Amino acid sequence: MSLVSMRQILDEAFKDGYGVGAFNVNNMEQIQAIMEAAKETKSPVIIQASRRARSYTNDRFLYHLMMAATELYPEIPVALHQDHGNSPETCKSAVDMGFTSVMIDGSLEADGKTPASFEYNVRVTREVVEKAHERGVTVEGELGCLGGIEDGHGAGVDAMAHLTDPDQAVEFVKRTGVDALAVAIGTSHGVYKFSRKPDSAILDMDRIIEIHKRLPKTYLVMHGSSSVPKELQDIINAYGGKLKPTWGVPIKEIQLGIQHGVRKINVDTDSRLAMTGAIRKYLTEHPEEFDLRSYLKPAREAMKKVIIERMRSFGQAGHASDYDPIPLSVMAQRYSNGEL
Ligand code: 13P
Repeated sequence: MSLVSMRQILDEAFKDGYGVGAFNVNNMEQIQAIMEAAKETKSPVIIQASRRARSYTNDRFLYHLMMAATELYPEIPVALHQDHGNSPETCKSAVDMGFTSVMIDGSLEADGKTPASFEYNVRVTREVVEKAHERGVTVEGELGCLGGIEDGHGAGVDAMAHLTDPDQAVEFVKRTGVDALAVAIGTSHGVYKFSRKPDSAILDMDRIIEIHKRLPKTYLVMHGSSSVPKELQDIINAYGGKLKPTWGVPIKEIQLGIQHGVRKINVDTDSRLAMTGAIRKYLTEHPEEFDLRSYLKPAREAMKKVIIERMRSFGQAGHASDYDPIPLSVMAQRYSNGEL
């Protein structure tokens, strides 16, 4: 199966009311972990790369690894998504390379740090939507700013300082025509999201419910949605790591979001924690070892295990064979004739 548009994956998720994990990658082992997890659980999946990931891999490598994934796992619908595109140029280069979905994060200016005005956000997002839809590529926008900094991208603001305004969300979707909308509800990128188990004072799930009521047909996206499991923190700390106590987004809150319009859930940190813990453990227990494969294999297994758990809890498991891929050229026609 060739890469499919993220729109198709989310349309299908909408029909059956489940969520789809969007997992970040930086190398071959992570792509393998995700594809093996998708195969084992029969899940459609979104694989995403940030700008830093594209530059770390040199994105030609990344693209061809993804081509290998589609060849080796023809039964799995998979979209390749640009995470946090900072400008129309970044999104264009992703589309030119063959990404089937892009995020334009106009909530921040092109420096990827400074919170932008609403009008700026509408303007750059609309520009990307026009260009991407002509080629059948999906577009995710963001309104409101997340806390934390991910891969160099983020204002590092207090997560509760720039939450998405539900009324503005309606105007934003109407004026931009995005396929999916990332909303800010108090989550942050990275490992330090919450300094205590989150409650409604710091994780505003009601805001999602409110936005979904006003935009029932818009696919909502939860960023910063790693759950940061204590078991994974403990492995890292047991083998020489120094993570401070921290809490992520509980799975049951994500499931509540899925009942209220969340279709895409971004997860990066949990994969990093799983792999780092496995590598620390292996090298501590085998100090004589220097073969990369000896520690990358358990790292890949550890990430696969987390991804399987996420695929099952988000509900995407079992849905890989529900549909045949729609070519991007057909998606482009559907956008242009107003069907989408
Ligand atoms: P986490 O840091 O919670 O995994 O979030 C990743 C993310 O939102 C990528 O855009």
